[in-house]
Amino acid sequence: MASITIRNVNKSFDNTMVLKDFNETIADGEFVTLLGPSGCGKTTMLRMIAGFERPDTGEILIGDKVVSSGKTFLPPEKRGIGMVFQSYAVWPHMTVFDNVAYPLTVQKLKKDAIRQEVERVLEIVHLTQYAERVPSQLSGGQQQRVALARALVARPQVLLLDEPLSNLDAKLRESMRFEIKEIQTRLGITVIYVTHDQAEAMAMSDRIVLINDGVVQQSASPAELYDHPINQFAADFLGKVVFLKGEIRDGRIHPDGTDQTLRYDGNRQGRIELALRPERISLSTESGELEGVMVSRFYLGDVSDCRVRVGSVDFRVIAPPETFYRLNPGDRVFLTLREKLLFDEDGSLEDKLRIRT
Ligand SMILES: Nc1ncnc2c1ncn2[C@@H]1O[C@H](COP(=O)(O)OP(=O)(O)O)[C@@H](O)[C@H]1O
Ligand SMILES: [Mg+2]
Repeated sequence: MASITIRNVNKSFDNTMVLKDFNETIADGEFVTLLGPSGCGKTTMLRMIAGFERPDTGEILIGDKVVSSGKTFLPPEKRGIGMVFQSYAVWPHMTVFDNVAYPLTVQKLKKDAIRQEVERVLEIVHLTQYAERVPSQLSGGQQQRVALARALVARPQVLLLDEPLSNLDAKLRESMRFEIKEIQTRLGITVIYVTHDQAEAMAMSDRIVLINDGVVQQSASPAELYDHPINQFAADFLGKVVFLKGEIRDGRIHPDGTDQTLRYDGNRQGRIELALRPERISLSTESGELEGVMVSRFYLGDVSDCRVRVGSVDFRVIAPPETFYRLNPGDRVFLTLREKLLFDEDGSLEDKLRIRT
């Protein structure tokens, strides 16, 4: 097991900056996810940790060993890492057993030792009874578990996973999240996981490193990131959010597009941007902070997804499922905002109000 230290790493391709001043320390046994939109530099960072790319500047340490710096560059096979990619990358002509055994065969381990280690990891990924099959006889999820077993067989200090679940269907993707997390907890291994899927990142990670355009925006636990996003990008990328522009004056928030105002307990004045999570707004037929009209509502089974018009502003509200049956378009309703995230125009979190109701 090992920690990973990334110091002042910069990387360009063809004079285009792909990663800027990347600094991050990943603790021994921690599960850290690099999260961000496609093209933000996640894979490039992972490949630099693995030793498939060289940083332009900065250094990378695995444990206390420098694996990459101005002077040093350790090749991937000397870094003690296991890696799984998006595409299954298992050899179609080899059995599951031989696929998984491959890294140990290359190391020229004795046959008995290889068998023992392969059986150990096949059990971890629940593939023991499939050892003699070839990949075409397996489902996508099982093939990805073969890749995972192969990454784990040489007992790496660090496991790097690059969108390993993106080729799987939604249901399987969700169950594999828990499996990977369970394996990581059981082995106590350090994991760096790459995904653009915020739900996946939220479900699995001890910590999320949110990246946009090659720059780390925020590095925090899933709960911290969701509850205290540092800027609009972070608020928007994780979960659902609706942004409203407005102004604070005379101790009240005045959203643009309506005469109704909102409670404000801070001491700021002037233009702001308000971010609202639709599941943190309560809907009532009796009373609330704002009065509006139900415009539409969709029954999604677990919730009702509603639009409520206040003045010329539409508020999205995720309400309990029975709301769909109780309220119709045109009905008068009241909203209570249980949380308000306020941002400066430059996008930083100004302050947050949670009004308990
Ligand atoms: N070998 C390469 N040569 C040139 N450009 C690259 C190379 N690898 C990645 N890029 C560019 O670097 C940026 C980041 O890519 P990548 O790290 O793959 O992003 P992500 O994994 O977040 O989707 C993209 O604009 C991509 O086109
Ligand atoms: Mg990628």
